[in-house]
Amino acid sequence: MTKKRILITSALPYANGPVHIGHLAGVYVPADIYARYLRLKGEEVLFVGGSDEHGVPITIKAKKEGVTPQDIVDRYHGIIKKGFEEFGISFDIYSRTTSSTHYQTASDFFKTLYDKGEFVQQTSEQYYDEEVKQFLADRYITGECPHCHAEGAYGDQCEKCGTALSPTELINPKSAISGSKPVLKETMHYYLPLDKHESWLREWILENHKEWKSNVYGQCKSWLDMGLLPRAVSRDLDWGIPVPVEGAEGKVLYVWFDAPIGYISNTKELCAKQPEKYGNYEKWWKDEDTRLIHFIGKDNIVFHCIVFPAMLKAEGSFILPENVPANEFLNLEGDKISTSRNWAVWMHEYLQDFPGKQDVLRYVLTANAPETKDNDFTWKDFQMRNNSELVAIYGNFINRTLVLTHKYFDGKVPSVDKLTEYDQLTLKEFADVKVNVERLLDNFRFRDALKEAMNLARIGNKYLADTEPWKLAKTDMARVATILNLSLQISANLAIAFEPFLPFSSTKLRSMLNMSSFDWTDLGKVDLLKDGHQINNAELLFEKIEDEAIEAQINRLVRIKEENEKMNWKPAEVKAMTTFDDFMKMDIRVGQVLECFKVPKADKLLQFKIDDGMGGRTIVSGIAAYYPEPEKLVGTKVCFIANFPPRKLKGVESQGMLLSSESADGTLQLVRPADNVENGCSIG
Ligand code: 2FM
Ligand code: ZN
Repeated sequence: MTKKRILITSALPYANGPVHIGHLAGVYVPADIYARYLRLKGEEVLFVGGSDEHGVPITIKAKKEGVTPQDIVDRYHGIIKKGFEEFGISFDIYSRTTSSTHYQTASDFFKTLYDKGEFVQQTSEQYYDEEVKQFLADRYITGECPHCHAEGAYGDQCEKCGTALSPTELINPKSAISGSKPVLKETMHYYLPLDKHESWLREWILENHKEWKSNVYGQCKSWLDMGLLPRAVSRDLDWGIPVPVEGAEGKVLYVWFDAPIGYISNTKELCAKQPEKYGNYEKWWKDEDTRLIHFIGKDNIVFHCIVFPAMLKAEGSFILPENVPANEFLNLEGDKISTSRNWAVWMHEYLQDFPGKQDVLRYVLTANAPETKDNDFTWKDFQMRNNSELVAIYGNFINRTLVLTHKYFDGKVPSVDKLTEYDQLTLKEFADVKVNVERLLDNFRFRDALKEAMNLARIGNKYLADTEPWKLAKTDMARVATILNLSLQISANLAIAFEPFLPFSSTKLRSMLNMSSFDWTDLGKVDLLKDGHQINNAELLFEKIEDEAIEAQINRLVRIKEENEKMNWKPAEVKAMTTFDDFMKMDIRVGQVLECFKVPKADKLLQFKIDDGMGGRTIVSGIAAYYPEPEKLVGTKVCFIANFPPRKLKGVESQGMLLSSESADGTLQLVRPADNVENGCSIG
């Protein structure tokens, strides 16, 4: 690497909800691995984070809760910041876009572009709420979707059918603030003329950054091929940074204009606080010797690869990103993660439910990282990776090595006697680990890099299993010494190799090994622990995760799914009109259950003997799943269709049909008339 320093940014999460595993897997864990790896190599690194605290969804949430937008962002900024700290995301700064430094920086940035004539002003018609005297953001307008005709579609999207909309397409639009019918009114906005930037962007990305990940490069190419249009960078809103020019009263900077400037503001804030450590912010943002890397999710690609670079170029004094290793999405148990449907595993809840197990989630999210395609997180996989990989391979190897060293050598690193051919082979196997992990991390291939580190643990585990020092202890202590020396050297290597991925475990392992020196360049060496070096007591590096803990998480998700289904449930559409005569053809009556049991070899069927007041009849009904103790139905009154043609079900003749209701979640329940109605009475 020829450049002097690396500036790493990770997308600023919106402070209108907590952070979930999708954010972690897509952005924060890979960014943190990268930052830790470079720091361990002794590189000059700055890792910037912060909350994105503007935008319409924050104002909507505030309105719903009857609080101010500032209350909302204060709440979530606190939760997110604390969660990141506990989770070990090693930001050098985690600030917020409501900071005074950011207001000033974003405002100045806009003013510079304005003064340079880098914006165009355009007037367009937008919906306006006359009752509250306010222009309406797309999300503030609801109406009927012109495609699927669902009610409650938003001005930018119908959540029912997923179609992207513009507010004027909605049928019967309504203001979400007052409920009134909005009117179209002219308004002026400032636009960044991306069309004017198209040609250099084409060359910069399509010619000079062919090395970008194919998902990123591909998305940029399709945007560029479609042709870029001017983009509005202001909004009519009362939450945000006021547009700092005359005649723009009531307008604020569009959230996607100010948010990426947040990376700059947060760097400024840090450099102002600790100039001796970080120098001045220009060094990080205006010196060609800095490599700027943006970690983001795929929904942010256009803003980081096209819009923000165009803003930086228009300003004129900033560097451009060298790479934008965006990830795809992580799903949860087969479904898209969704904040509004609460379909997520939240970072702060995970930290409460699995205290001290940050590294387990870091491991699973990296092993399953959605680097090239969307991936799925499941709790079963989480448990399996912990129990069969972290515990059974890495943890087991470390534990056996340390316990045996204490047992046979009082915790002192024994000396190598002589190396066998098998020892040499084992050493050869891990000689390349440093080069391999480096190559993969340098290319943002975190999944494979983790696999490579895990492979080292596998090599160690296999070495111990094959050499069985516990069996040799009675006969060949010199051989045991050699085996344990090599195992301890591999353990020390593991502490280094895993540090970027599993920092908490590496710290614990280093302390068990009493390792003082800790340097990436040591990786691959076999003399990290000197002969006679005293190690500390062995503790378990990882613990088994039991079924109950996993079932509790799965049950939580099942409950959420049920709640969502109930909330979305609507009565089925009324069927086409029937006639009085047709209705009168049905002979519906009251009966009483005399016997009830499961039909053999038929999971779904119950066989009823019904007292119908006319000598009795048998009815078979497909409701076994809802009545696990069918004998308890004996004595209850039911409704049945008496003139339903008899039919055979699993060999039993059913002489009628029982009436049942279907609840929102699909549960069937028998319809029960009052107890004092005689058997055989008709219903109608
Ligand atoms: O998609 C999001 O969550 C945005 N808040 C990301 C902003 S990234 C940067 F520009 F600040
Ligand atoms: Zn629709």
